[in-house]
Amino acid sequence: VAEPDLAGRHVVVSAGGTREPLDPVRFLGNRSSGKQGYALARTAAARGARVTLVAANTGLPDPAGVDVVPVGTAVQLREAVLKAAADADAVVMAAAVADFRPAVYAAGKIKKQDGQDPEPVALIRNPDILAEISADRPRAGQVVVGFAAETDDVLANGRTKLRRKGCDLLVVNEVGERKTFGSEENEAVVLGADGSETPVPHGPKEALADVVWDLVAARLG
Ligand code: PMT
Repeated sequence: VAEPDLAGRHVVVSAGGTREPLDPVRFLGNRSSGKQGYALARTAAARGARVTLVAANTGLPDPAGVDVVPVGTAVQLREAVLKAAADADAVVMAAAVADFRPAVYAAGKIKKQDGQDPEPVALIRNPDILAEISADRPRAGQVVVGFAAETDDVLANGRTKLRRKGCDLLVVNEVGERKTFGSEENEAVVLGADGSETPVPHGPKEALADVVWDLVAARLG
């Protein structure tokens, strides 16, 4: 049985991958299953926290004792996270958020034109939710945690991302078509804005989640 070291705390976790619609039948998306975010939500609840889980397109069953807010796009995820973060002690962004979305949403299904090459898809930037919350904390003393999904130069890219995003902790994990996405296991290095580095060996996503909450709890005091 876990220590109730997060009792009385409200934590917000985002999970899954956003989908950015092109037309009523197609979207730009990514391979996140939501499992890492759900493991974070379950372990926080087991440690006594009140948990809001903002879930993007996961299709996973709601964890017991957790408030689940389903969302589709990055813009919807931002709105739900900001609303829940207003009174939160910690925000953990495990969701894979699309950096860009199609500039135009076609109200009807885009048709192929006989003999013609397709039009290129113009993209526009999505808001960076992690950077926004880190810069302008909805509540004083709030601990903000990001994830970095990297395919190469994992640690170097993670360190740069930690500075750019301005969060307190950044969980750096390597991803690929069959790596981390959708699996039950993960391995990572948790970088702290204070220069700390906490390696987490390969193991269940719950084990990584518990290390994240240990580091959050230490920062909440
Ligand atoms: O869901 P699983 O299948 O279990 O896989 C887990 C995971 C690989 C999705 C997870 O461990 C993970 O790495 N999540 C973050 C994925 C991601 O979007 O990484 P990023 O390096 O592109 O973004 C960095 C951080 O900024 C993330 O915390 C992200 O939530 C946040 N972000 C990114 C873009 C954006 N527009 N707004 C954001 O807030």
